[in-house]
Amino acid sequence: MRAKIVSVTNQKGGCGKTNLAVNFAGTAIRHGYKTVVVDADPQGTALQWVGNAEEGAAVQIPVIGLSHAGAKITHEIKKYIDDYDLIIVDCPPAVESPVPQAMLLISDLALVPVVPNPGDLWAATALLELAERMMGVNETLRVALVASIVRPNLGMTKSALQTMATMKDNMPLFKAQINQRAAYPESMLSGDSVHALGSAAKAAIKEIEALYAEAMKQLHLKVEKKS
Ligand SMILES: Nc1ncnc2c1ncn2[C@@H]1O[C@H](COP(=O)(O)OP(=O)(O)OP(=O)(O)O)[C@@H](O)[C@H]1O
Ligand SMILES: [Mg+2]
Repeated sequence: MRAKIVSVTNQKGGCGKTNLAVNFAGTAIRHGYKTVVVDADPQGTALQWVGNAEEGAAVQIPVIGLSHAGAKITHEIKKYIDDYDLIIVDCPPAVESPVPQAMLLISDLALVPVVPNPGDLWAATALLELAERMMGVNETLRVALVASIVRPNLGMTKSALQTMATMKDNMPLFKAQINQRAAYPESMLSGDSVHALGSAAKAAIKEIEALYAEAMKQLHLKVEKKS
């Protein structure tokens, strides 16, 4: 099978891109999809994350570091296209990086995590405009916003979520959202997704599973891979 490519991208730093990329990959692997994360960010957070995994752990999330490739990342990624079902690309936050644009040209789905507050909404505009232009070139590209690091009890959250839902007609806001939870940074230490934390991370597991299911629908893939 030719891998589907999912890019996690937003120029805003710290909005939960790496968190979403690695937790998404850990979820897909648990549903039977052969999945790899491509770390396209020179910060190397995804690589460091999986470096914390215990040797012999039941689930190992493979991560390939391709931040050195710059705009040639698409060429590098194509080398892996027949080896995996899903390639999840953790894009760098730099505005001047050629990587988000290059990735949008070859992705099946772009997930744009946005923290629902005014500053993060403003900062997302440039990326959404770039994505809109790339949708004109890559006709199979779908783009969705994901509410990330959400604090549901904050007064501004509700109106920010409403704004996110209507920012671009062709870019829906996923129903599933990632709330602010200690389980996410804790999962970094486990070297795996929140699943590794077991029942202590029940709420986080439920929301990442819901998000995964919504993304798989966009990709026309079943939640469970039947071999
Ligand atoms: N839902 C969440 N709840 C709590 N903490 C979170 C959540 N998502 C991310 N974090 C934490 O916030 C920090 C930034 O998250 P992350 O590294 O995923 O963002 P990023 O967009 O990849 O950042 P960068 O732009 O620097 O690559 C990390 O410490 C991460 O563990
Ligand atoms: Mg990151």
